[in-house]
This record gives sequence, C-alpha cells and structure tokens, in this order.
Amino acid sequence: MKILLVDGTIIGRKTGAVLEQVKVYLEQFNPELELSILKMSDYEHQFVDGRPTAEYNDSMREMVRRFEEADGYIIASPIFQGSIPGVLKNAFDMLHPRAMRYKPVSIVANGGTYQHHLVIENQLKPILDYFRCLVTPNYVYTHTSHFDDTNAIINEDVHDRLRELARVFVQYAAMSTHLSKESLDNH
Ligand SMILES: Cc1cc2nc3c(=O)[nH]c(=O)nc-3n(C[C@H](O)[C@H](O)[C@H](O)COP(=O)(O)O)c2cc1C
Repeated sequence: MKILLVDGTIIGRKTGAVLEQVKVYLEQFNPELELSILKMSDYEHQFVDGRPTAEYNDSMREMVRRFEEADGYIIASPIFQGSIPGVLKNAFDMLHPRAMRYKPVSIVANGGTYQHHLVIENQLKPILDYFRCLVTPNYVYTHTSHFDDTNAIINEDVHDRLRELARVFVQYAAMSTHLSKESLDNH
C-alpha cells in the first residue's frame, strides 16, 4: 500500500518534523507500507481557477498524480490565521472529489497556541469528510513547547499519541483494502 505523507506548508519546520516522526512509527507498526513524503515546498503552485487540468504546470499535475496514486494519507498542517495554510487548501481544490474517497487519513497539526487545536475539527476534518475519507479518530496537535531548538519532539506524551495514531492508522489502512473504491453512484 502506498501511503502519502503530506507536509502541508511551504514555510516552517515543525510540521515536517512531526511527519518524519509519524513515518518512523508507521514503519514500526507495518514495515510493508510504502511511505513517501510529499512536501508542498517542493512544488510550484498555481491558483486553482477552474482551467482544464492539462493547462496547469507539470509540478501541479505531478502533485495530483501522487495524491491519486496513494492508497492512504497522513496530512500534516500548521495552523495559520486560525485555519490551514492556503497552499494546502489550494492542493485539495486541485483534486478530483473522488481522488481520496474511502482511503484512510490521519492528521497531525502544529500551532503556536494551544487554543487552536479545534481548527482541525472545524476546518480540516470537514474537507476530508467531503472527500469521504476514512479519517481516524486519532489526530495529534503539537505546540511549539513540545519541541527543542532543533525541532526534535521532546514531549513523551506527544510521542505516545503519535505512536497510537500510527497504530490505529495501520488498522484503518488494512480495513480500507476490504472496501471497494468503486461507488454505486458518481456523487
Ligand atoms: C502566517 C502565520 C500565521 C499563523 N497563525 C497561527 C494561528 O492562527 N494559530 C496558531 O496556533 N499558530 C499560528 N501560527 C504559528 C504556526 O502554526 C507555526 O509557525 C507552525 O506550526 C510551524 O512552526 P514553525 O514555523 O516553528 O516550524 C502562524 C504562523 C504563521 C507563519
């Protein structure tokens, strides 16, 4: 199974650091998963404006291809202005509504204030629900104080929650293999 670990920002380091840690735990729970990291910062973004897909640059089309080919996702997002980064929303806007359908997804997020953990519930989960993803009940929100100066995670509770997220994601991934991706309708 191909799992795409999406680093949803073009600035900052902590979001990517959490994603790297999740990757380590996923490998421990299921070494057979094919894990690859997609960094938004590696792509040349264009605003999604309704033009035909063929008219976007190669970079945008490559990003879409990687999303479509994946069987599951870890979405990592920082909190920007009480929401997700525009570049991540723009990437979601670029996808076909069925691109992530019935595929497992876990979320990790990072913010500068504790109060913004519900941004995930209110803003990111509804997008994934629209895509009809199998969103795991676990997500992990980290805060600046959970990292040291090198952006290593120094909070043991965060490590425990990331391990648990990986454990549950691996089970959702297995479950999704029994769920046909074909829909009875096209809606
Ligand atoms: C433009 C911008 C807006 C931000 N807005 C918020 C916010 O509304 N809530 C919050 O908790 N953190 C906010 N932050 C902090 C980021 O979430 C934090 O920088 C990010 O998680 C990554 O950390 P890093 O930049 O140290 O790698 C913001 C950061 C930037 C750059």
